[in-house]
Amino acid sequence: MPLQISSMMGPCARPQGAKLRCLKGSRGLEGRQGESLSKTTDAAELAALQEKIKTLEVNFQEAQHRIAVLHVVHEVAGSLTSELNLEPLLRKILVAAVEVMNASAGSLILLDELTDELVFAVIEGGGGENLKGVRMARDKGIAGWVATHRKPLIVDDVNKDNRYYQSIADSFDFKLTSLLCVPMISRNKLIGVLQVLQSKPDHYFGDLDQKLLTTFANQAAIAIENARLYESLKEERDRLVVVEDEIRKRLARDLHDGPTQLLASIIMSLSFTKELIKRAPEHALDEIDLNLGVSEKALKQLRTLLFDLRPVILETQGLIPALEVYAERLAETDKLNIVLTVEKEFERLSPKAEVAIFAVIQEAVNNAKKYAQASQIDLILQPDESQDTLTVLIKDNGLGFDVHKVKARYEERGSLGMINMQERSSAINGVFTIHSEVGQGTEVILTLPLHENLLSNSKEM
Ligand SMILES: Nc1ncnc2c1ncn2[C@@H]1O[C@H](COP(=O)(O)OP(=O)(O)O)[C@@H](O)[C@H]1O
Ligand SMILES: [Mg+2]
Repeated sequence: MPLQISSMMGPCARPQGAKLRCLKGSRGLEGRQGESLSKTTDAAELAALQEKIKTLEVNFQEAQHRIAVLHVVHEVAGSLTSELNLEPLLRKILVAAVEVMNASAGSLILLDELTDELVFAVIEGGGGENLKGVRMARDKGIAGWVATHRKPLIVDDVNKDNRYYQSIADSFDFKLTSLLCVPMISRNKLIGVLQVLQSKPDHYFGDLDQKLLTTFANQAAIAIENARLYESLKEERDRLVVVEDEIRKRLARDLHDGPTQLLASIIMSLSFTKELIKRAPEHALDEIDLNLGVSEKALKQLRTLLFDLRPVILETQGLIPALEVYAERLAETDKLNIVLTVEKEFERLSPKAEVAIFAVIQEAVNNAKKYAQASQIDLILQPDESQDTLTVLIKDNGLGFDVHKVKARYEERGSLGMINMQERSSAINGVFTIHSEVGQGTEVILTLPLHENLLSNSKEM
């Protein structure tokens, strides 16, 4: 994206602000209009007046030039919002900043909120490519000062500034003299810092540069936030596609292993019964009884599958009745002892909260069934009005597992269960935790704010 703006910066290598200064002792221009110049005999005063006009002309040109630069900054900043891919956006921001500021080089440094570190995301000019990805503490160096104080900073001679971080500077193969560093803030949140550097001697950044770059950096910060939001939406969409695929595969497997097998055996048995009626009708009744039992089993399996797919009772009667039916079914089909305890009555929750809690319970119970070889699962609901929380506990007495180990290599597993439980919990502002130890069983805990998730407070009503 080559920007044709550098040439505009020509005479303003050190902008000092486009102030229109008045010469001391001289009168205003308007006052002069009515007067006859022929009356002015004082040559010195004329010279002073000419000097003043010259200064005004220079200042006027400078102001015009600044307006043009501002216009470019505005245009560039506006065009940033249409770039939704993060990597190219970051580069666009930095290239534009370096060009607009007529700088020799620059870097865009992002704050990693998880580690509270600053990360060099893009480097422009100065052969500093090896700095890309380098991390430093949030308060290190000049960038760290700007990030911590959330204030812009001009440094005319970096070698005289003890905030200058030499070991980082050494990786930046560049003879740096002065710099301008500004914070990138969006909705009061620090996104990172933007830094432009000068290698030319006697080229300094001024107050106006600082103002321009600050405005630009804040627009850039909004664009970065948008792009991040867009990327997380894309990830979410991809994840939904995977989840849907998983559900379809599981449904196909369950249908194949359960009801399909039973139906096949019913058909075989029915043709056998037909023969029996012809040849030994006295045995036909027993065969029909046998068939009835198998048919009932098939029906139960199909109903369980339907319930897992869409527990209609959750929508019609709410969470507690749905959990009661769920526990009964599991006790029948899986011979699992599921104990549901509701410690205190509470108002019905919003459909969103009920569906989320039910989904977390389903996943936790499925895990306990699949991996834990548990003989008992406790489902406990603890409403606490004084704390405004509802705690949902799913405890199994099974094998347990090393949570850290599983989480550390989670991405390699291709699993989604824990992520789903985590996201379902966040969607209702809940906190999801899991405690487990090998040999000690597993405890899944979801704690959500009670009041805001009540049906009576829900907009979905
Ligand atoms: N209740 C549990 N008991 C024992 N191991 C469990 C339990 N819950 C989860 N795990 C372990 O954690 C892993 C990740 O679970 P999850 O995220 O649901 O993915 P998936 O079920 O697809 O493997 C499981 O593969 C299993 O090893
Ligand atoms: Mg699972």
